[in-house]
Amino acid sequence: KRRISEEKFDAASATENGYKEPFVIGVAGGAASGKTAVCDMIIQQLHDQRVVLVNQESFYFDLTEEELNHVHEYNFDHPDAFDTENLLCCMEKLRQGLSVDVPNYDFKSHKRKLPARKVNPSVVIILEGILIFHDPRVRKMLNMKIFVDTDADVRLARRIGRDTVENGRDLKTVLDQYSKFVKPAFDDFILPTKKYADIIIPRGGDNHVAIDLIVEHIRTKLGQHNLCKIYPNLDVIQSTFQI
Ligand code: ADP
Ligand code: C5P
Repeated sequence: KRRISEEKFDAASATENGYKEPFVIGVAGGAASGKTAVCDMIIQQLHDQRVVLVNQESFYFDLTEEELNHVHEYNFDHPDAFDTENLLCCMEKLRQGLSVDVPNYDFKSHKRKLPARKVNPSVVIILEGILIFHDPRVRKMLNMKIFVDTDADVRLARRIGRDTVENGRDLKTVLDQYSKFVKPAFDDFILPTKKYADIIIPRGGDNHVAIDLIVEHIRTKLGQHNLCKIYPNLDVIQSTFQI
């Protein structure tokens, strides 16, 4: 099957022909609040290939040798830790219907690994990350803003599990990082962005009612997209997306 990104795409003529920009959903919330779990459930329930997920953590800056030598002093929860210009650039291209290479960030080495992940344009883009609502330029791109609201003790417990088991860190390191950077940054930068949310999901992935409602809303949006106008060769689209 040919994929949609392999079709020749001309953004200008597409717009003239009634092209609609993708529906972009932002999912913010504290670290280990269940953002990824919520996004995975949404994508799974949609059971539709026209949804792509972009993670803000892919846009962490690489650490320099100097920073790596003092990694316990590095604040991964500050907005400056992210290459927001690159994130904006990738999102803009996706919105124009172009494929992008999203960096592949490695939590163990604190650096990007090759190869980058190729992300194809889609009708729905989900952008997930702790500080997705922080930059007004990113916020402006979002058609729907979801904040995953999970208690701090649950987030810390999950974080300990994840960072010790998956990322091979010791408990003292995880707790020190939490009290020095993670908690203060949550209070200073993440929590204040909750006010921008259209929907607040208490209990993250456990909240099936909220996820069902969101999925229904996205389905409505998908139905409103008129792909035939952009890609006259509808047969290809129908077979690619099983419409
Ligand atoms: P985030 O993307 O916000 O960092 P994740 O979805 O990756 O959060 O979840 C963080 C950790 O908590 C993961 O190890 C995940 O398996 C676990 N987790 C997420 N949601 C739940 C849940 N509802 N119940 C139990 N564990 C969960
Ligand atoms: O997936 P999640 O939203 O939890 O990712 C953000 C968290 O990852 C931040 O709280 C940050 O402290 C942590 N992080 C880390 N080491 C890195 C990069 C991010 O502990 N190299």
